[in-house]
Amino acid sequence: MTEVIHGLDIPGTQVTTMYDGFHGTIYGSFVDQRAVDINVVQKWAGDRPARILDLCCGVGRFARTLAADGHSVTAVDLSEDMIGRARGLWHDKAGQAPGRVEFMTGDATSLDLGEQFDVIVVGGLSLSTLDDDGRISTLKVIRRHLAHGGTLLCDYMPRPDWTGTKENHLSFSFPSDNGKAFTVMSVRQAPSEGRQISNMYSEIIGENGSTQRILSAETVGYLDPPTVVEELQSAGLRVEEEVEIKLPTGSDDSFFCFVMVRCTAV
Ligand SMILES: C[S@@+](CC[C@H](N)C(=O)[O-])C[C@H]1O[C@@H](n2cnc3c(N)ncnc32)[C@H](O)[C@@H]1O
Repeated sequence: MTEVIHGLDIPGTQVTTMYDGFHGTIYGSFVDQRAVDINVVQKWAGDRPARILDLCCGVGRFARTLAADGHSVTAVDLSEDMIGRARGLWHDKAGQAPGRVEFMTGDATSLDLGEQFDVIVVGGLSLSTLDDDGRISTLKVIRRHLAHGGTLLCDYMPRPDWTGTKENHLSFSFPSDNGKAFTVMSVRQAPSEGRQISNMYSEIIGENGSTQRILSAETVGYLDPPTVVEELQSAGLRVEEEVEIKLPTGSDDSFFCFVMVRCTAV
């Protein structure tokens, strides 16, 4: 589905990923407000200063917090826009923090930094946005970058225990550089299709009436717990602990559920 949307050629409409350009800025400010998973990662990373790799770091939520806790973090993302924004958010704090962050672009499915880390974080459901081959390749990359006995902190979205589909919408408007803009976000949970699809649509209306449209989509594949444990095990990662987190969807009393996992490199 994501590939179909990104392959569209609609006149006057720019199709981007959710992590680039205008939508990258909106996604970045949205996700940066989420703290519930950061608290778990902070606790699992421990107090002793560690070498940490934040893979698929986005705007660097985990990396910035962990460096502020005194860890030494390397943060990698495919999107130059995400890395640029992460660097900007870190810039003012870097001088006072006891730890450090080095941000860089890179592909998690084939990364080779030539060094090993004590902890690797792959959060915000990043593994679940990759297809099966991408996820398996990334797990191999993770194991290669983890010291023996090192810790992987990752997460996944289990298939909901209800059938049918649920759709939630959120829309907002705001001033843009030379006019105004509005964005509609929608999330469709579809257990029978094995995935959750998020769409973002924006219109930026200039003072002269010109309209620019932007369209993005992202798919999060639901994963069954036994599959996750098996894939991790095959990559040399033993599951030690899991925590289930529920986030309200905002429009009714339903919620998104995801599971955070702590593993040891064996
Ligand atoms: C769902 S976001 C999560 C971002 C961040 N971990 C967080 O929790 O805020 C997924 C991120 O993975 C990045 N990404 C997607 N494919 C990637 C790849 N192959 N290698 C590195 N980063 C990738 C995207 O650019 C995006 O920033």
